[in-house]
Amino acid sequence: MGYPEIRPRRLRTTPAMRRLVAETSLEPRHLVLPMFVREGATEPRPIPSMPGVVQHTMESLRKASLEAAEAGVGGLMLFAIPSRKDAVGSGGVDPKGPLNAAIREVVAEVGDATVVMADLCLDEFTDHGHCGVLAPDGSVDNDATLEVYGRMAVAQAEAGVHVVGPSGMMDGQVGAARAALDAAGHQDVAILAYAAKYASAFYGPFRDAVESSLVGDRKTYQQDPANGIEALRETALDIEEGADMVMVKPAMSYLDVLARVRDLVDVPVAAYQISGEYAMIQAAAERGWIDRDRAVLETLTSIRRAGADIVLSYWAVEAAHWLRAAR
Ligand code: PBG
Repeated sequence: MGYPEIRPRRLRTTPAMRRLVAETSLEPRHLVLPMFVREGATEPRPIPSMPGVVQHTMESLRKASLEAAEAGVGGLMLFAIPSRKDAVGSGGVDPKGPLNAAIREVVAEVGDATVVMADLCLDEFTDHGHCGVLAPDGSVDNDATLEVYGRMAVAQAEAGVHVVGPSGMMDGQVGAARAALDAAGHQDVAILAYAAKYASAFYGPFRDAVESSLVGDRKTYQQDPANGIEALRETALDIEEGADMVMVKPAMSYLDVLARVRDLVDVPVAAYQISGEYAMIQAAAERGWIDRDRAVLETLTSIRRAGADIVLSYWAVEAAHWLRAAR
């Protein structure tokens, strides 16, 4: 008496047993690598708050994109830092702008071996650092921004992108991108909507990465971290507007939101393990406070377990190599 008959530990006795009963898998194809390219750069520049991540030159971007494709990652998400920013983010729409140029380079290099995606947002391109254009009173003008996003989507499609990722949290951004793409004959370009994107402190290192000049915050367009139900409304709207895939962002502080979104929708769900999530683990590991590689795999697995089909992570290529070696 007193001894348990049901012993869950039996299924944990050996590595083979644990592998047999694992509920969640993590494979290279689940991972998407975000990459930065800096216009005019002659050598890759390290990003101090994201040790191990660089602002690429066009040439190093090409090389790294091929390496990522060869590692078997599911996709690449491209961001660019223009040499000149202006009030309306012209560099994002310009077919010769750095992001559209990067799409061309990367697609020329990897072809259809992986999925090439691009961030569809203005914050990297505006001198005020907001995700849209401003109204005379300084607020972000939703509908004027939609018009720019539409042109930007078409420019990215013309550069050969497979997927556009509207990330500015403007109302109607998915519908605007879809309509503009379709009108220009790009019915096959898919939309990964940043559907539930929160106004997060964890974007800090990204602002370094794209040399953002933002003063203030994005709380009038990104979601309040206090809200979960609202994420379901945002997601449902994006799907109605034509999103082919939806994203929750950040990942780790929003695993509950991710799980609810996964339950709600029947399209692929992505989660973005963002710059601050990356930086925290890198920094703790540098100090010897945690085992970096285990922590990375644990976080990626937990994001998958919570419901992400696709995980954007700055460790995508490194993790893909580990996962292949472990097979
Ligand atoms: C918007 C965008 C941001 C990130 C991805 N797309 C910044 C923001 O919304 O403030 C953040 C990604 C990260 O922190 O790793 N263009």
